[in-house]
Order: sequence, then C-alpha cells, then structure tokens
Amino acid sequence: MTRATPVIPGPDAPLADRDGAIWLDGDLVPWREARLHVLSHGLHYGGSVFEGERAYDGRVFKLHEHSARLVASAREMGYALPWSADELDAATREVVAAAGLTDGYVRPVAWRGGDTLRLVAPDSRVHVAVAAWPWPRIFADGPRGIRLHTSRWRRPAPDTAPVRAKTAAQYALGSLAGQEAEAAGRDDALLLDHRGRLAEATGANLFLVLDGALHTPPPECVLDGITRRTVIALAQDLGLTVVERHLAPAELERATEVFLTGTAYEVQPVTAVDAREYPLGEVGTALAEAYTRAVRGGDSGDGGVGGPVGGAPAAVPDGPR
Ligand SMILES: Cc1ncc(COP(=O)(O)O)c(C=O)c1O
Repeated sequence: MTRATPVIPGPDAPLADRDGAIWLDGDLVPWREARLHVLSHGLHYGGSVFEGERAYDGRVFKLHEHSARLVASAREMGYALPWSADELDAATREVVAAAGLTDGYVRPVAWRGGDTLRLVAPDSRVHVAVAAWPWPRIFADGPRGIRLHTSRWRRPAPDTAPVRAKTAAQYALGSLAGQEAEAAGRDDALLLDHRGRLAEATGANLFLVLDGALHTPPPECVLDGITRRTVIALAQDLGLTVVERHLAPAELERATEVFLTGTAYEVQPVTAVDAREYPLGEVGTALAEAYTRAVRGGDSGDGGVGGPVGGAPAAVPDGPR
C-alpha cells in the first residue's frame, strides 16, 4: 500500500484542501489527490452510500455496525462493494491510525464511477473511500439543547425511496429541510413521514418521554440509527420502558422531554419544537451520560478501553451527519 505522510488536518482548513491521507480503493493517498471524475455515476444519479462514524480515544465506536450498514446500503442501491465489512473495518483503522486521531469524525463513502452514464450501470466500477479528521466534542460547556422547526418536507414511504439505505439519494431532502429550519432561525428540522407521523431530524432519530417511558418511531421511514439502537439498549439497562411505535405530532404536546440520537449528535436534548418548549430533563441527561460512558470505554464495538467521561453533548453538530 502507498503511504502518504500522516499530518492531522486543522479543524478550520477547507475540507478538500488539507494535509493528511485518505484511503481510496485500497491505498492511502494524499488528501488533496483523493478525487473522482466529474462524470461519475454517483455524482449524477445520487446512488452513493456513506457512513458517519466517530472515533473516541482513537477507536471508532460501533465500527463493524457502520461498515456492515455501508455494505447493506450499497446492496439496497443495487451494487456490491468490492470490500467486505471486515476489510472496511481494517481500512478505517488504518486511516484513523495514519491520521493519529484520538477524537474525530470518519466518513466512508462508496459510489459508482465514470465508466458510463447509463442509469443502469452494472459494469461501472464501484469506488470506496474513507476519510477521517479531528472533530472533538464541540459543546463541552454543558447542555444547551436544540430547537427544531417542523419541516414541510416529509420522509418518503418505503415504496417511494430506498429509505433503509444511507444514500446520498435521501440527503437532498435533509439538506432542504435543514436549510428551511436555519432560515426560520432554528437549529435543525423535524421531518414527519409520508403519513404525517413523527419521523426524525435531518441526521438523527427522535425520542419522546411520555409518562416516564421512551417512545420512538419504528425504523420504517427513518434510518435505523446505530446510536438509536445503542440508546434503546442503554435505556433498557437503566430500567426504562422503550416503546417503538408510530407517533402523532400531537403527542409532542404531552411529552415531558424530547431528544435526538445520532453518531454526530450523540444524545441531544431538544428544547423546542416550533412553539412548544421542553426542559433539559432527567431521562435525556441520564442517557447522554450513559452514552458518553459507552463511547469512551464501555461497549465501543471496536475493543475500546476505558477513558474519561465527559459532560452531555449540547447542540446540533455544526458538521456532517
Ligand atoms: C437521516 C438520519 N437519521 C438518523 C441518523 C442516526 O444514525 P446513526 O445513529 O447511525 O448515526 C442519521 C445519521 O447517520 C441520519 O442521517
């Protein structure tokens, strides 16, 4: 394998113009040379698939689950990745080690290349890249909570879009909803599903606390978040009741707490949905603390060992999902 000089990119440098190395189709290549052709199928037809991962203390939390979801997302989009989940795990560890990352973000992405622009392109070569860069806990100053704006955009039905895949094809929607929320002065958007039920935020799953129990939409029109699954298990360990069911927007009126979960968001309290305000509650705080313990040393899914426990994360991540 070709090894480029491992230099940690600064957090403020433009993303494409940094030192360091990106794993591309089996080799570590210099960061600025990790390019794709303008006629790439994935750029035109939106079939690229990706993951958003976090490294804590140099280990990627739930690495194998993420690699496996990338493989499954590609399959859902009609192509096979040229690397197995185990091989992607190894590539990711290589990138994280080359960057000397402790706390950071990892972005694996796969797409069909520029061999043909036919919509149906079974012979188009599939490319895979993995990039990683420092992304420490951004809001270490205590919980602030985020304010949501209910979007006019809705999550499509499972027979309208490949809702199970983490594919660029879905993220135009999140991008539009996010822009609309920011224009409304809010931190993020809350999307309903095609039937008008509560769905998720642009890059995170939704939980409501109702009568002391956690309620969350089933992963039918929303991404089956790895953090969502982790938090459900942590909640059950804490003795909380977790109910996966369809939720009507009116149930927001009755909720005593609302929070979001996601790799980038971690466990993120919601302090407002439109005009309705919520306190930073005990349940969300307990789960945020339990999640921090898990990512730092508990079940990292990548053999992680113990480390310091930080405070609860506190706002919508100003970065990737
Ligand atoms: C639309 C959407 N929903 C939910 C999530 C949360 O998923 P995870 O916990 O696997 O990061 C994400 C982030 O990947 C997302 O983009």
